[in-house]
Amino acid sequence: MHSLGFRVNALLTLGVTVLALMCVIASLSDNLSVPSPSANVQVLNFNWFQKQSEGNEEVSLTFKIAADLQSMFTWNTKQVFVFLAAEYETPKNSLNQGSNLRGKEFNLTLHWHVMPKTGKMFADKIAMTGYRMPKEYR
Ligand SMILES: *[C@@H]1O[C@H](CO)[C@@H](O)[C@H](O)[C@H]1NC(C)=O
Ligand SMILES: *[C@@H]1O[C@H](CO)[C@@H](O)[C@H](O)[C@H]1NC(C)=O
Repeated sequence: MHSLGFRVNALLTLGVTVLALMCVIASLSDNLSVPSPSANVQVLNFNWFQKQSEGNEEVSLTFKIAADLQSMFTWNTKQVFVFLAAEYETPKNSLNQGSNLRGKEFNLTLHWHVMPKTGKMFADKIAMTGYRMPKEYR
């Protein structure tokens, strides 16, 4: 005859094993659904664009984002971080052009990090091209 303690222990071990197995299955099945969000960002207005006394440039803009993030959310999704970054190329060899962004082309990149309940976190991004800074400060 097994003691009560032994039975409880056996039951717990089984429980933990089943749980671990379910976590593995969860992360594997989640890997099958690669999120494919779409985004569209429209710059509505450059509110201001200035050169500060320290030489930094500051821009304020209003934009409209239409994004479909639905595919990021599965039953295994815990948290999603999404942010938009403006990316531009700076001239590498001419110092005197410094931080002059006037009339410069830039990309807006939507980055996302998906943190699943179990399994590996993953990140990806979509780059949207063809934006341009105003030619003059305002
Ligand atoms: C998830 O999918 C990627 C490519 O789609 C593959 O490289 C990776 O090994 C997969 N990971 C698991 C845990 O199956
Ligand atoms: C914008 O993105 C495109 C495609 O990813 C890249 O070729 C281009 O160099 C980028 N432009 C800037 C200004 O970062």
